[in-house]
This record gives sequence, structure tokens and C-alpha cells, in this order.
Amino acid sequence: LFGFNTNRVSGYFDPIEPSKEDKLILPKNFKYDVVAAYDDVINEAGEKFGSGCDYNAFFPLQGSSSRGLLATNHEYVTFFQIGNVDGKPTKEQVDKALYYQGMSVIEVYRDSNGTWKMDPRSQYARRINGYSKFELTGPAKGSKAVSGATTVQGTFANCSGGVTLWNTVLSCEENFSDTAEEAKLPDTHYGWVIEIDPFDKGYLKKHTALGRFNHENTAMGVAKDGRVVVYMGDDKKDACVYKFVSNGKYNASLGRGNAKLLEEGTLYVADLKKGKWLPMTIEAVTKALEKGTPEMKEKFKSQADVVTYCHEAAMLVGGTPTDRPEDIEISPFDNTVFICHTNNDKHGNIHGHITRIFENGDDLGALEFDFEIFAAGGRQSGFSSPDNLAFDSNGNLWVVTDISTSSHNTGVYKTFMNNGLFVIPTVGPNKGVAMQFASGPVHSELTGPFFTPDEQTLFLSIQHPGEMTTDLNNPTSTWPHRPGDKIARCGVVAISGFKLG
Ligand code: FEO
Ligand code: CA
Ligand code: CA
Ligand code: CA
Repeated sequence: LFGFNTNRVSGYFDPIEPSKEDKLILPKNFKYDVVAAYDDVINEAGEKFGSGCDYNAFFPLQGSSSRGLLATNHEYVTFFQIGNVDGKPTKEQVDKALYYQGMSVIEVYRDSNGTWKMDPRSQYARRINGYSKFELTGPAKGSKAVSGATTVQGTFANCSGGVTLWNTVLSCEENFSDTAEEAKLPDTHYGWVIEIDPFDKGYLKKHTALGRFNHENTAMGVAKDGRVVVYMGDDKKDACVYKFVSNGKYNASLGRGNAKLLEEGTLYVADLKKGKWLPMTIEAVTKALEKGTPEMKEKFKSQADVVTYCHEAAMLVGGTPTDRPEDIEISPFDNTVFICHTNNDKHGNIHGHITRIFENGDDLGALEFDFEIFAAGGRQSGFSSPDNLAFDSNGNLWVVTDISTSSHNTGVYKTFMNNGLFVIPTVGPNKGVAMQFASGPVHSELTGPFFTPDEQTLFLSIQHPGEMTTDLNNPTSTWPHRPGDKIARCGVVAISGFKLG
């Protein structure tokens, strides 16, 4: 039994053991309710919950931690949505891929028995998907790099995300290329950070100033001088960590008007050797290209080109290639910045690690930093391939793992069994020690941990259970095992049992 120094989240739980069972296993005295699963009807218009559930964000209604809107990302489709793709996908398969990706906004509540449910009569519930119309903002809007587009069709490959200071959601387009190609949509219209307002159906933006790459997430904070800072990972092997710093300052009284701050600012890439944030301006890229090839000089003529071909620009100015930066969280205690480097088999980093950045003067706006490896994956720590992160108010980092499904229970991944959820204190005597809180069903990944404001409920996505299935009559998982379910369905659960200390 581990006792963290906790007041609000009980923290007193018996860590569980790794498991191969087709179940979502929690410590004793905790329970979960499935609030929504793939293909469930979410509203009176008959729209359906999407697939590949990832990021979650909860927005209280009337300040309540028992009723609110849940915004969920839908990252991709699997065999369960579109069946086998034999060479080129059919039109029907492409249509389904565009429909089931994107986001859902649903209304959820805890009933008088303490069970969390979805309310399909909600006036807010809706889908955002590959057909929704988005407005571009920032340097690439209307530019040659995006063929002059000011609006674009749809969003997909929505992985992780973040909540803004003004109560909207940022959602990140990660592995967008396949869907864009199959749907014959222009590749440069995807790979951005989108912003939606769960309370306003008409508000759909793609902020190009934050760059175009395999966006994992956003983590937003404020610099000491009031400018808004957004940390972002580019989840690819040998890709970089970025931060955007707005030109203008945050003004709480403006509410959503602050979203303008995401249209003008400086994008920086991390140089981990020098401990510097390098500006990715057209001036810096042009200077770096003085000895470059004519083709490269032709490619980078404006800031629109820099944000659109962000990774190439980052390499030119001296950004450090890293081991697949996934989620990033800013510690609410000391402004240190935690980054999951999930793994990179190109360099033998098989189990990944969590990097912690110390900005100069604890100022998120600083241009210099130092860092440490806060925790390393492997047998000793008990976790492998860290991915999404969430903080609770006691300084515990909640970390989900993403061992790729084809590696489950094989080779050096054997001891970890199914993917899980771990709690790692960042302060106190158990600092850096990982304790397992949950084990996911077979061939799943746990994603999108998000606490209600009272920290009595943890929302969590169960992504791609049964992903290795190739025969509908023989699925590798049938989670969530609801009556009548013959296939596995990804979904979102509400975990409760946290006791006030
Ligand atoms: Fe979609 Fe990088 O995880
Ligand atoms: Ca994933
Ligand atoms: Ca991820
Ligand atoms: Ca991952």
C-alpha cells in the first residue's frame, strides 16, 4: 500500500499487477462506467460516437463535476469500422474513415446511483469529422503553401490535445497522411492544431502559426510577462519538441477573444544540446539556407512555408531530433515541463523515457533551459513506452503506456503485458516511482486521462481493443462486453472511487 501525500485524490490504492486479461482492471475499491463506445448514438439527430478514442476534456455545466460536456478525439479507424482494406480502400471505406474520425462532443452526468451515463438528449452533443468546415488562421491562411485556401474540409487523425485558458479545446492532427491520400484531399490542409468550442457549434479553426507536423498534443501556460505559451510534440522518430509564444498577452476578461493570440507569435524548436529554444522565423531559416540548395531556397520563401514544412525548417535551424515526443504537461507546482519520449528503435530506446525541462527562472517564456530524464521505461521502473500524461493536484503524474499492439507479450515487452495506466509522484518520498493503477483490455491502449475539477472522476479512453483482429468471428477482444456486443468497441470510461482524504 502506497500513501502519497494526498488530500484530494485518495492516492491510497493497492497498485495492481500487469495482466493479459481482456478486461479493464482497476485497484480494489475503484469502478468504471462506460459512458460512450464506438457507434453509440450521441444525440437526437442520430449522430454516432467515433472510433479510435484518444484525448478527453471535461467541461462542467453550471460548475458541476457531475454533469458536463466531454470532448473526445477520434484518431483512426480499424478493421472493426472498415473491415479489411484490399489494396485501395473502396469509396464506402473512405467515407466511413472520414465520418468516424475527428471529435465528439457529448453530454455526460452521474446519476443518483453514482453511475456515469451519456445524455443523448443533449442540445450540445455533436460530431466534428472529416466533413466539417474549418477556417484557417495564421501565416499559412490563403498562402501559396495551402493553394490559397482560407477554409478547408474536415479534421482527422485527432490524437491528443489540450484545453485553452479560455475554455476551448485544441485537438491535434497526427498521422494524417493516409486518410488525406485515400480521400484525395490536399495533404497541406492537415497536420495542424485545431480549436473547437464545445459550447458553440459554429466555431471551428485550424491555427497554422502552431506549425504543421505529426502533432501529438498541446500544453498551454502563461509566460511571466503574460504571453501565452504552447508546448507541442511531433510524434515521429527523430522529430522535435516545439513551443509557440504569442506576441500579445493573455487577458482573462476577453474570454474566447484570446484565441487571436494563437494567430501571431513565434514558433521555437528545442536544441537539447545548447539548452536553447531556437526561433523558427523565415529570417532564421533563410540565414540557415545561405549555403543551401536552390530547391530548398525555393521551398522557404515566407513564414507560411516555414509553418507548413515545419520539420524541415526545424532541422535547418538546429532543432534536436528526439525519440518520438508524445504528450507534454506543465507541472502546476513549479512550471517544469514533462515530455513523454515514447520510444525510438532506431537508437535502441526501446522503452522510452519521460524528460523534464527546467525553463530558466521557471519562466515558460524563457529562451534557455536545462533538462533531466525524470523516469526511464524498462523492467526496473515497470512501464514501457509512455504516452499521454495528466497531473492531479497533488503532483502525481498519471501516465498511460503505448506498447505497439504487435509487440504485446513478445520479446522484451513480455513482462509489461497489456498496456496500462501508471501513477508517478513528482514530489515526495515516492518521486519518480511508477505504480500501476489500471491494465487495459487485450490489444488496447489507454489514452486521454482527464480529471473532473473535484478529482472524484477520471475519464479515460480505451483505444483500439482487439486491434489485431482479422476475423470478425474470432475477435482478440470483445471489450466492453456489453450485452449483444460481438466485437470490441473503443470507448470512454468514467473511473470513480477516489476518496476525499
Ligand atoms: Fe496518436 Fe502519438 O499517438
Ligand atoms: Ca494512439
Ligand atoms: Ca499518443
Ligand atoms: Ca503512442
